[in-house]
Amino acid sequence: MNIILFGPPGAGKGTQAQRLVAERGMVQLSTGDMLRAAVEAGTEMGKRAKEKMAAGALVSDDIVIGIIRDRVQEPDCATHGFVLDGFPRNAAQAQALDDMFAELGLTLHAVIEMVVDDEVLADRVSGRFSCANCGHGYHDEFKQPKVDGVCDVCGATEFKRRADDNRDTVAKRLKEYHETTEPILDVYRKTGVLRQVDGMASIDEVARQIGEVLAA
Ligand code: AP5
Ligand code: MG
Repeated sequence: MNIILFGPPGAGKGTQAQRLVAERGMVQLSTGDMLRAAVEAGTEMGKRAKEKMAAGALVSDDIVIGIIRDRVQEPDCATHGFVLDGFPRNAAQAQALDDMFAELGLTLHAVIEMVVDDEVLADRVSGRFSCANCGHGYHDEFKQPKVDGVCDVCGATEFKRRADDNRDTVAKRLKEYHETTEPILDVYRKTGVLRQVDGMASIDEVARQIGEVLAA
């Protein structure tokens, strides 16, 4: 099964994608994670993306379309299905994805919109941190490690925070979401693949609702 998790910054896309990886073996395709890895590694792509990401703006379409096109063709995606997290983000990316699916004979089973009030997003994003070793995501208030200072998944004790997780950049990312990303939902509404879950609910309840969508 191939799905898109759709929603604003802090909606819970990454959190739920990590659960789908752990519980169903699906492959998480997060353009944000891939771009951050490229920035950290100092690759040519990372150098091109760094400033845009720090400003809360979108990275150019050719970069993100290229990384998704390469990644969906790897064998694990065919075997386990994939979760697109943070892609597509504008009309050109949605069109490119549609063309790519047609060309590669892939099916898009559902676009799951995580519906969240704007007011909670700044708190979600500014409290976020993740394991420096395995990348598992946490929150200062809403999702703390079971043992303080130790990653639940890999036992590492180093954590990190994202450079773009400050209130100013979050406001810019949210504006970009409403202006550029949200309008593409109309395309998916028309093709009948759009489903909604209550992103304001607890992490467990959101996961349950996503499970229902996948079972339908
Ligand atoms: P990206 O990394 O995709 O960031 P984003 O879309 O802004 O989304 P986030 O990762 O901030 O939020 P999330 O929905 O994953 O929330 P999470 O699960 O972590 O993109 C970053 C940048 O990269 C972009 O600004 C752009 O520059 C570039 N980029 C990426 N893709 C691109 C593309 N396709 N085209 C062009 N540029 C691109 O949850 C947030 C926090 O809340 C966590 O701490 C979590 O524990 C907590 N939480 C989660 N769910 C709940 C819940 N139900 N209740 C309470 N707390 C919760
Ligand atoms: Mg994310």
